[in-house]
Amino acid sequence: MKTIGVLTSGGDAPGMNAAIRAVVRAGCENGMRVMGIRRGYNGLMQGDMYEMNLRSVSNIINRGGTVLYSARSPEFKTEEGLQKALNVAKEVGMEGVVVIGGDGSFRGARDLSLRGLPCVGVPGTIDNDIACCDYTIGYDTAMNTVLAMVDRLRDTTESHDRCSVVEVMGRRAGYIALNAGIACGATTILIPEVEYDFQRDVIERMIRTQKTGKKHFIIIVAEGIGGVEEMAKRIQAETGVESRATILGHVQRGGVPTVRDRVTASLMGYKAVELLKEGIGNRVVAMQKDEIVDFDIFEALNMKKSLDLNLYKIAHEISI
Ligand code: ADP
Ligand code: F6P
Repeated sequence: MKTIGVLTSGGDAPGMNAAIRAVVRAGCENGMRVMGIRRGYNGLMQGDMYEMNLRSVSNIINRGGTVLYSARSPEFKTEEGLQKALNVAKEVGMEGVVVIGGDGSFRGARDLSLRGLPCVGVPGTIDNDIACCDYTIGYDTAMNTVLAMVDRLRDTTESHDRCSVVEVMGRRAGYIALNAGIACGATTILIPEVEYDFQRDVIERMIRTQKTGKKHFIIIVAEGIGGVEEMAKRIQAETGVESRATILGHVQRGGVPTVRDRVTASLMGYKAVELLKEGIGNRVVAMQKDEIVDFDIFEALNMKKSLDLNLYKIAHEISI
């Protein structure tokens, strides 16, 4: 391939810039023209793109967000939207695209590949909810952000003998909540993958630990469960512990990417170019058991990711 494009789509994630950098550098080093497409599929439909060179990606490896900007694009999901994108790609001679995003973005990449524009997906989402992939770009930074924020909350929670009920991101997935919850020493972690009983898992656990002398509590709740304000009220009413709710929100999507996110993103971006260089599209780059591998997009989208329930069990056993 002589000309490829790169775009970031869906929710941004720290480390996306490191992936863009790797795609541009590897592409240029292989003699390709690399077009940076702005604002995801919107940019592809509107022809909003520019040629990137080795120096266009200097000094971005350390930055959160994405220098190509990101967007959600409902129009792209329609047949007209797809055709618009394909026509633009044809006009500029784009023969392949690296799509950095989550599984929604991969569905778009699949649709383009099906219509003759080979795409390679690179998993960028803080939620870590890509089935074929143990680890997605941005997940580590987001968990470290949660940790830093909850450590601050813990200070004031402890000073006032309170309970902090903290909502972390993850609409359908509890990975951030579970792992950051373990790292924060949360008394209870509530995630969409595991059914819970509020009385048993929150109130009774708190009362039990109160009896051992514990006076402050952290409860981590995944966004997909929600309702932290009501939970805090109920905890206060039933345990007598003054409670506050905090929704961490989009702070989790920003910030300086960690070593792990930068390295993973660099390796994944590089792998995506290796595939396109060979003319291979309709693939998703993934990490499995610390190795960079790739899958057919259809296969990848049909896989199911399971959460380690043993981890959930251990988390609760050691946080009493
Ligand atoms: P993420 O990639 O983080 O999962 P979204 O689900 O919002 O984020 O998807 C990002 C974009 O990918 C959407 O705005 C849309 O343009 C495209 N997309 C999402 N789902 C599909 C789909 N089923 N078919 C085609 N394109 C899709
Ligand atoms: O997919 C990443 C994510 O941050 C989810 O955790 C969250 O539910 C969603 O995106 C928020 O999306 P938006 O930026 O559109 O509010």
